[in-house]
Amino acid sequence: MAHYMLYLSLLLAPASLQGIHAVDYVVTNNAASTAGGARFNNEIGHTNSKQTLSSATNFIWRIFQQTTAADRKNVQKVSLFTDSMNGVAYASNNEIHVSANYIGNYSGDVRREIAGVLYHEMTHIWQWNGNGQTPGGLIEGIADYVRLKANYAPSHWVQPGQGDRWDQGYDVTARFLDYCNRLRNGFVAELNKKMRSGYSGSYFVDLLGKNVDQLWKDYKAKYGQ
Ligand SMILES: *[C@@H]1O[C@H](CO)[C@@H](O)[C@H](O)[C@H]1NC(C)=O
Repeated sequence: MAHYMLYLSLLLAPASLQGIHAVDYVVTNNAASTAGGARFNNEIGHTNSKQTLSSATNFIWRIFQQTTAADRKNVQKVSLFTDSMNGVAYASNNEIHVSANYIGNYSGDVRREIAGVLYHEMTHIWQWNGNGQTPGGLIEGIADYVRLKANYAPSHWVQPGQGDRWDQGYDVTARFLDYCNRLRNGFVAELNKKMRSGYSGSYFVDLLGKNVDQLWKDYKAKYGQ
């Protein structure tokens, strides 16, 4: 009996620990009466989006090398809303809001497009922002870097080497971060870890031995730009 109890507690301990840290995903379609809201239900779906949210979280933890709960932001629940609104999507307060108008007007594989959007927005939920000091272009670049690495980059994105500034944001910065990560595997994870408490341009020097302006020049030169 004693052996059995010991066995049982060893078996249950990891499960209950995981239970404490599991993330809940809640999906609400606030625009079901609109064409885009109906398209969300028909072509994307409630169950599929919950799966995408969960896969995105696991992917992001892996990209950021966050293997334990102590490494991660303390988020228990992420809510996804489909709303009648302009724009594409945004994340705030552990909520992701996606535009039903965007879904309704999108031409092409809308399920794949919204999966890419969700990977981007979910990155905002989990990434560190240097206590608000990280440049906005870098924040958006990291979110699109995750989307790129998940193979959800849309065809209209800039090609590697294109763009005017390293911190232009979105696809431009994502392509540049991909270059940096090829120089040092795990660079984006290390950069995100450093941004847990603040931000400094010296992080690029610390990790890659060159300042970011030199890295941008090297990157442009590599692609003949
Ligand atoms: C397309 O976008 C416009 C402007 O946001 C919106 O009024 C319209 O309902 C959208 N169309 C669909 C089919 O969702």
